[in-house]
Amino acid sequence: MTVKKISELQAQRLKFKPVLPAMLKNGPASVMPKQGKSTESVSDQETLNKLFPGTYGMPVVTFSKGKNTALAKKTSNIGVVLSGGQAPGGHNVIAGLFDALKKANKKNKLLGFLGGPSGILENKFREITAPFLADYRNTGGFDIIQSGRTKIETPEQFEQTKKTLVENKIDALVVIGGDDSNTNAALLAECFKQGGLGISVIGVPKTIDGDLKNEHIEASFGFDTATKLYAELTGNICRDVNSARKYWHFIRLMGRSASHITLEVGLKTQPNICLIGEEARANKLTLFQIVDSMADVIVKRAGNKKNFGVALVPEGLIEFIPEMKELISALNDALADNETHLNAMATISEKKEFICTKLNSELSALMKSLPDSISSQLMLDRDPHGNVQVSQIETEKLLISMLKKRLSDLKKEGKYTGKFSTITHFFGYEGRCGAPSNFDANYTYALGYNAAVLALNGLTGYISSVKKLTKPASTWECGGVPLTMMMNIERRKGKEKPVIQKALVELEGKPFKTLAENRENWAMTESYVFPGPTQYFGPSSVADITTITLKLEH
Ligand code: FBP
Repeated sequence: MTVKKISELQAQRLKFKPVLPAMLKNGPASVMPKQGKSTESVSDQETLNKLFPGTYGMPVVTFSKGKNTALAKKTSNIGVVLSGGQAPGGHNVIAGLFDALKKANKKNKLLGFLGGPSGILENKFREITAPFLADYRNTGGFDIIQSGRTKIETPEQFEQTKKTLVENKIDALVVIGGDDSNTNAALLAECFKQGGLGISVIGVPKTIDGDLKNEHIEASFGFDTATKLYAELTGNICRDVNSARKYWHFIRLMGRSASHITLEVGLKTQPNICLIGEEARANKLTLFQIVDSMADVIVKRAGNKKNFGVALVPEGLIEFIPEMKELISALNDALADNETHLNAMATISEKKEFICTKLNSELSALMKSLPDSISSQLMLDRDPHGNVQVSQIETEKLLISMLKKRLSDLKKEGKYTGKFSTITHFFGYEGRCGAPSNFDANYTYALGYNAAVLALNGLTGYISSVKKLTKPASTWECGGVPLTMMMNIERRKGKEKPVIQKALVELEGKPFKTLAENRENWAMTESYVFPGPTQYFGPSSVADITTITLKLEH
């Protein structure tokens, strides 16, 4: 028997033909960009206007049908880079870009920078050709050219970026990334415009976290596939829980900051507890209050002889708890100010002891009260964009240890007689490279194709925008949104920086309200729903459905 190189499903998915929105169907040369009114950033308008004199306030761009024959006459080289965490559909963005470029002019070239933004700095790339791309169409992962989290930050790095792009005669750079990478794209666009380089920069909204969205970006790609995958696993756990009836399962779900993933998985599976970070922040909840409210559900269920259940915990929860946020922010500053000193220390306890001397008394007491595993995870290196690596903080274990203490106190007071056996899970990395759902396969292909149209028209500082996503893909609306429109000023690595504002879960929005209206019932019952595995074939009502979040929001 010969050993197969690809699975049966992969072989079938290679044949999938993404549906292009009607506007793009006849290729870039049949689309004319139309400029709307000038725009403003979400906040800090004056500061941002000064920081982005060349690209601030640009209009939103929409498309209309028309003859854009100039596009077919010129030859363009476009560079593309995958930046940040993997999200299902990245390969199809590249496929959409490639097909649009070749449709406009066969001589156009697509160059893929290797290993994320560091590929630009090191001038490492490969040309994307039709035979090379063929094996990657409709597949998950970023392995076609790999990804990385390097931030293009220093004046030297900006110079090196210019050098690479000029040397390779690149007319436009497409940055496929999340909020941080698109912030980088905005800075590059501004730098090239000010330098009169004539090189466009276009962003594409990627992140499973779902927090890169606004009125023009209805969803970031990858959220649909990743949440389908996590919901399948969570549903399976719910069924296991309901069968064995002996464990409480704590599932931490990825999503660095916003709790969109947890909310979507909660709506899809209806677990007994579903924490939302944004709610903890709005209600200024302490860790103890969160634990207390969870203990309440556990005690009540135990009263009904139900010593089992499922609790969802967003990985970003820790940063939403005001006291923890304050601690993390003080740690960011203290770690940045004392980097060399800390690097010279050999043990975590030495570092913890030292860092506590740099915190005020309340924060120092909080830091000391945390289990060593958690406090050392809080001191881990920040990523190049200054973010705490929340994926490595085991918040679910912190909650369990506090719950055990709380439940034993309640037992002593005669208020609890149950049994609390726990099992923990972290669903994160397993969702980021899943085979893109039909929705993500279509959406990413359209985003890539659309990005090519923006770049070929010489637009710069825009993010690819495909809208009306709850309607059939053929009717989706395309265009570009200025990156500066999505920006504000935030404190990063101890400094004020212009960044794209994260879209957090809105407590007044329908997705959260739906959870809030139902959670009391879900807490006490076993109203679990089992979404099952992502379907790629079969009835459209199963294979083409998108997220509950998107449906409720639009
Ligand atoms: P992006 O914002 O780059 O899309 O990454 C999102 C994410 O998957 C988060 O959900 C998670 O916290 C983080 O990446 C993990 O980062 P890393 O891959 O560096 O461990």
